[in-house]
Amino acid sequence: MIDQAKALRDKMQQKKVKKDRRPTRVIAVTSGKGGVGKSNFALNFALSLVTQGKKVLIFDVDLGFANIDVLLGRSPEETIATMLDKDLSIWDIIEEGPNGLQFISGGTGFDEVFRLDEDKMNKFFTELSQLQGHVDYIILDTGAGLSYENLRFILAADDVILVTTPEPTSITDAYSVVKMVQGKDPNVHMKLVVNQCTSDKEGRQTADNFQQVTGKFLNKEIGMLGFIPSDASVPSAVKKQVPFTIAYPNSQAARAMQKLAFDFLELPVPYKLGLKGFLLKILFK
Ligand SMILES: Nc1ncnc2c1ncn2[C@@H]1O[C@H](COP(=O)(O)OP(=O)(O)OP(=O)(O)O)[C@@H](O)[C@H]1O
Ligand SMILES: [Mg+2]
Repeated sequence: MIDQAKALRDKMQQKKVKKDRRPTRVIAVTSGKGGVGKSNFALNFALSLVTQGKKVLIFDVDLGFANIDVLLGRSPEETIATMLDKDLSIWDIIEEGPNGLQFISGGTGFDEVFRLDEDKMNKFFTELSQLQGHVDYIILDTGAGLSYENLRFILAADDVILVTTPEPTSITDAYSVVKMVQGKDPNVHMKLVVNQCTSDKEGRQTADNFQQVTGKFLNKEIGMLGFIPSDASVPSAVKKQVPFTIAYPNSQAARAMQKLAFDFLELPVPYKLGLKGFLLKILFK
């Protein structure tokens, strides 16, 4: 009898270890300038990964203006902020979006997590850690620019997707992000997405120039992930509050996104710290 119980415990332990080993990668989507299309990118990229069989959770960490719920036409009652205040579990606040995409919002006051309330930090860590093995990817939709919190997210993520448009102002701000990040940690993995291109040629040229300049002046290699064309379907989908890959799956933007997600999955995705390492780094380092 005792042997049986031990065998069962061992089995459960093995299962737990296996589950823990399923890597959950954290990918931060960020930009220098605001309004370049990060939230639309993050949401539709996440949905495209879901279409390709991945389990994905999108986490809106834009501390100023949460966007993902608006793009989905939802207004979740529970957020990270209410989880901490009302002592809820992570499972109480995960919302189910289209096609099984999961999402959570930071909510108002989420940034307090970083303001050294130790109980809240511990609770945040314990609850968020449970997502380890639950999804393949956690996509963070960050705010624009280099706030203290954004920088922490970028430095702790396994991979960073930097979104720019071909406009010079957007490019120079993206460059500033790379410069700042490079100064803090040269081992951050970054990939570039050029959004709102008028042609593939323009996208490629923008990326080539950017890669050259970051290589030459910052000694930083930035991989090119893809281009998304400027497409009227995107604002039209925003107005409908339906993600453009769902509202207009045959639009140019949606097709480009599917290709980009496919290419992403072909690339070796770095596994730097994983979810627990990410949480430890944003909270305690
Ligand atoms: N590929 C595209 N083609 C046309 N319009 C686009 C495209 N991508 C984004 N937009 C438009 O740009 C606007 C800003 O998009 P979005 O909210 O995703 O940007 P953001 O970078 O998340 O902004 P913020 O910095 O305020 O969080 C939206 O109105 C959207 O319709
Ligand atoms: Mg946004």
